[in-house]
Amino acid sequence: MTKKLYVKTYGCQMNVYDSERMAEALGASGYEQVDAPEGADMILLNTCHIREKAAEKIYSELGRYKPLHDANPDLKIGVAGCVAQAEGEEIMRRQPMVDLVVGPQTYHRLPKMMEAVDRGEKALDTDFPEEDKFAHLPKLRQPRRGPTAFLTVQEGCDKFCSFCVVPYTRGAEVSRPATRLLGEARDLVDRGVREITLLGQNVNAYHGDGGDGEWGLARLIREMAKIDGLERIRFTTSHPNDMDDDLIAAHGDCAKLMPYLHLPVQAGSDKVLKAMNRKHTAQQYIDLISRIRAARPDLHLSGDFIVGFPGESEADFQDTLELVKTVGFGTAYSFKYSSRPGTPAAERDGQVPADEASDRLQRLQALLTEQQRATQDAMVGREVSVLFEKPGRQAGQMVGKSEYLHAVHVDGPDRLRGQIAPVRIVESRTNSLRGALL
Ligand code: 5AD
Ligand code: SF4
Repeated sequence: MTKKLYVKTYGCQMNVYDSERMAEALGASGYEQVDAPEGADMILLNTCHIREKAAEKIYSELGRYKPLHDANPDLKIGVAGCVAQAEGEEIMRRQPMVDLVVGPQTYHRLPKMMEAVDRGEKALDTDFPEEDKFAHLPKLRQPRRGPTAFLTVQEGCDKFCSFCVVPYTRGAEVSRPATRLLGEARDLVDRGVREITLLGQNVNAYHGDGGDGEWGLARLIREMAKIDGLERIRFTTSHPNDMDDDLIAAHGDCAKLMPYLHLPVQAGSDKVLKAMNRKHTAQQYIDLISRIRAARPDLHLSGDFIVGFPGESEADFQDTLELVKTVGFGTAYSFKYSSRPGTPAAERDGQVPADEASDRLQRLQALLTEQQRATQDAMVGREVSVLFEKPGRQAGQMVGKSEYLHAVHVDGPDRLRGQIAPVRIVESRTNSLRGALL
């Protein structure tokens, strides 16, 4: 008898990928994924711990499932991901409804854990195991919902930026063998995928076994580009110090590598960058971007920013605004610094008052929005190629992504789904573009 599994995913794209793999792993225990928690036999929250209140959010989400649990005492509840890793047993202490807690590195053990849960026991596993979980996971079988897919190629981080929990929740940097990844990419393409986004917490530090030695990310991308039927490759997220010459060159000479790069800089003041342990200066970042743009002039650049890092003065913040003006971002994500327990920055003096940080965030976001708007408006009149993913909200409409990752709507038939077609952009809207098929 099949049982119903509801998975709710928080946080980054790596969690989206993990959720898919966890659902597959639970397939072995008879579970099939459903889209709503009502009527499910198991609810699994795949959590994120990157910024504040993550754990609190999970506890309140769990509280919302109480009525479902009261109505069906057999309902199983699991917590996975980085909050699971960080909080461990505390989750079961605070929320006795929870049957299972599993960290990001041990979810290949889910079928075994479910056996214990089915016997009425609690199961907890937040190890950093010796074995490679991916080697113990079933091959992806679920029908794909669209022509794009994520593929985790690298996990963990050795950079230890002083604000970040990732090195603690995800552990040390591990790269998956390239030969295996090429096989998985081929499987995805056989199942209709046309675009693959290579994922890693620090993906451009990739250094996996390619059979004839160690491959960097550029080599992996170049080999993957040889797969017939795979049309587009992207990667995220990267550290400036790991943009090597070959990867920069690939942006210019590998046609399947899309002209979009997410390359977080976090701040524009050298003093703050140093305190963040980023190990590069603002000028080094600016020079790096110039080199990448020399290889690919139409590159659409994206970034992450933190404002209100301990010790950040108004002058330091002005340096961030200056850097943004100098570089020009097509998209960006900006956050107020949030103190994460266990990270070096959490212990520092000079915490910026909350209202000051909010004010800086607002000013930064105003500038970034202006740049985003300008980049988007500049697309009007241009020809782009769109990979169509799904019908739009209005009848007769299809939506897809341009090579620059802009969402593009066109009037067109359903059979466009999974196809790449040339489109002329005719209008720039708040968060998307409208185009006409050529
Ligand atoms: N506070 C605020 N933002 C953070 N990020 C990571 N840790 C923190 C933190 N403690 C942001 C960084 C990173 C993105 C994924 O999240 O900008 O690039
Ligand atoms: Fe966190 Fe820095 Fe590693 Fe990114 S590079 S995951 S911000 S420690």
